[in-house]
This record gives sequence, C-alpha cells and structure tokens, in this order.
Amino acid sequence: MKTGILLVAFGSSRQLAHLSLRQFDDKVRARFPGLPARWAFTSGVIRERLADAGKKTDSVAKALQKMWFEKYGQVAVQPLHTVPGAEYSSVLADADQFRSGPQAFEAVTVGGPLMTGPADASRVADAVFASLPEGREAHDAVVLMGHGTWHAGDSAYDALLMEVQRRDPLVFVATMEGRLTIGDVRDRLTAAQVNKAFLVPLLSVPGRHVQTDMAGDGPKSWRSILTKAGLEVECVMRGMAEYGEFADIWLDRLAVALDELEGPAVPPEPA
Ligand code: CO
Repeated sequence: MKTGILLVAFGSSRQLAHLSLRQFDDKVRARFPGLPARWAFTSGVIRERLADAGKKTDSVAKALQKMWFEKYGQVAVQPLHTVPGAEYSSVLADADQFRSGPQAFEAVTVGGPLMTGPADASRVADAVFASLPEGREAHDAVVLMGHGTWHAGDSAYDALLMEVQRRDPLVFVATMEGRLTIGDVRDRLTAAQVNKAFLVPLLSVPGRHVQTDMAGDGPKSWRSILTKAGLEVECVMRGMAEYGEFADIWLDRLAVALDELEGPAVPPEPA
C-alpha cells in the first residue's frame, strides 16, 4: 500500500522559519528513507501571504485530498505542535474527514505533539537541558517561551515548568497566551536578583512570535519587558525543529503514527 507522510506546521512567511522546517524535513527523510513527505500549513493568513509571493502551499485538508487523488493508501500526519491545543485539535478533525466517506484512506494516523501531559515533561526537559544556550553561566536565567493556549493542553507547560525548576531553579517556562506569564517570571527574576536572562523559543520555528514577540524592539516584547526590569537579555533565534533533541521527540511521535497504520509503511515503487 502506498504510504505517505504529511508534516504540519503553522506556517511562516519568514526565511528563518523556513530554514528551520527545511532542517526538520531533512531529518524526516534521513529517518524514514523512501517515504514521501510533504508539508501542510494550518494558517490561512500565512498561506495567502505565501501565495502572494508566488509560493503555493496546502492546508491539511487540501494536502490530504491531493494524496488521496495520488492514490496513497495510508498517511501518517505529524504536526509540529508543542501541546495539544486548538490547532492540534483541528489537525485531528481534518484527518478524521479522511477516515470515512468517498475520500477515505485505508488508514490515517496523527502523531502526538511535543508534549501531551506530565508523562512527557521529563523527556522534553532533557531536550531543554541538552540544548541550553551557549555561554549560559549557572547564575544566568533561561526563560523558555511557549505559545500557550486557553485550551486544556496548556497544563503541559505547567508540567514542564515543574520539571525544569526541579532540576534548575533558574530555568523557567512562560507562554504568550496561557496561564504562565512573562510578568510573573520577571518578578521572580528580579526578586532573585538575577542579572542576565536568555530567552529561548519553545516553538517549532523562529517565526513572527520569536522575531517580534520575543526578540522585537516593541515595548511588549519579552526582551523589552526584561530589559526594562534591569536585566541583560540574550535571545536565541532558533526553533525547536532544528535542535536534535527536540526534533527527535517529534520524529519518535511520527514513528508511532507510522506504526499505527494498518499496513507496513513501505516506500512506494519508483515510478
Ligand atoms: Co500564535
């Protein structure tokens, strides 16, 4: 049975983010040689922007539909999400559309996000500590910037915060849209009289959130907020999809999704 991989990202019109995805794509091809892998972007706004720039991209549903027309029998979908939030849920819903009805595959599976709950905190924390910023000294803080969500999936960030704090009290997790805020971290850093903090994306690629909301010059950027509190701030401008240890977690999620397909995931015969 013809087996394919569909990788899913939010999407970004920024070059730096594309390089990140490209690196992840290389890792997928190295780990699952011969299995065709293609991309879908969940953000309609980004897809329109890319289309204006002459780059055609697909939504998840569109990509799956194309694969159905190309006679794939089974597809393993792997989103590059950090937690099971609203976006991840919509990928699940898109995949569900291809499980029955006229365009059903024999099987469609969806790999998990980076972390689903407390059980994943330890491995993700391992990845955090394996990729601490170069030049970070023991008395410097490291603040991981997650997206955050109103969705129940937000609790995965709490589990990670607990785990990293247990290992090193100067490593923090905060999010843009969830319960853990940069304001709280700032207060804790100033109370602890920390002089320097590294900001590290807990996001798959260094797109707009990293370039503007984390490292931008505006008054609301995390860099500005911590700088204003008197800290020296250094920003790491890479996404997790590039780091070996984080990328490996997503690759393992994809391996599970491939295992869950009905038939063996054999590469198609060359045409
Ligand atoms: Co966002």
